[in-house]
Amino acid sequence: MSITIRRALAQAALLTDSSDTPRLDAELLLMHTLKCNKSFIYAWPDKLLLSGQLSEYERLLARRRKGEPVAYILGRKEFWSLPLMVNTSTLIPRPETELLVEKALSLLAVCTACEVIDLGTGTGAIALAIASERSEIRVTGCDIESQAIDLANRNKAALAFENVNFIISDWCAEFTRPVDMIVSNPPYIDPDDPHLTRGDVNHEPKSALVSENKGLADIQCIASGSFGLLKPGGWLLFEHGYEQGSAVRRILADAGFENIGTDPDLAGHERISYGRKN
Ligand SMILES: C[S@@+](CC[C@H](N)C(=O)[O-])C[C@H]1O[C@@H](n2cnc3c(N)ncnc32)[C@H](O)[C@@H]1O
Repeated sequence: MSITIRRALAQAALLTDSSDTPRLDAELLLMHTLKCNKSFIYAWPDKLLLSGQLSEYERLLARRRKGEPVAYILGRKEFWSLPLMVNTSTLIPRPETELLVEKALSLLAVCTACEVIDLGTGTGAIALAIASERSEIRVTGCDIESQAIDLANRNKAALAFENVNFIISDWCAEFTRPVDMIVSNPPYIDPDDPHLTRGDVNHEPKSALVSENKGLADIQCIASGSFGLLKPGGWLLFEHGYEQGSAVRRILADAGFENIGTDPDLAGHERISYGRKN
């Protein structure tokens, strides 16, 4: 027995306990199963799923009911309008990180032929987004996880960008040549944060999320390691937790940075801090 597209979408009701966006999730899983776009599923609500499609859709729904993030189920996530492959080796790129890309691009507006490092690149999201906007800028992304670097390289190959490359490095350890900007969305969650057991983060690697010293240890390490790696006039930018703004500004000042500032996210929370090496 099969069911119609309309009935398949109604199974979103099964996801209400595991997801804040059950209808959207059901649409995405169904579009993935049927290899179609959203217009198709609303244009043909009475079309029957083939039996193979129904069993595939039910399998995906069952994974989502267990809390697995939609992006891991589909194996992809859009960031900065770039279709990126994702997997469990690293964080699923978040929309709020696009603010970090916007800030980086605005500070790079006056810079020609400059070099940028993305520390903790994961899927390569930030590095690829900057590279996509400024073909004359050379971007290097690094990560300590070799599987994340494999993934970032696959994303680079799929997008065919030539001005970006990825290396394995423990933060700044493998870099020697001074650069114009260092950008990072590092792990910044306190290991005791109760949110770590809920939602998507429960399925993401702790190495991408958690940092000692109330979430600030990696930010501290990057700030001190970056100062010597920046050219005079170079910028360091971080994404951080919404309650970490004042601590991150203090870390930047202690490391020797000036022109320190913080920008809010769309909800008005302090989210991005930056400083300049003068
Ligand atoms: C919050 S995720 C950010 C991923 C990606 N930049 C993004 O915004 O979607 C942090 C990344 O830092 C990497 N990481 C953790 N410790 C590291 C270290 N010591 N050196 C380099 N990368 C590290 C993790 O593997 C993870 O990919």
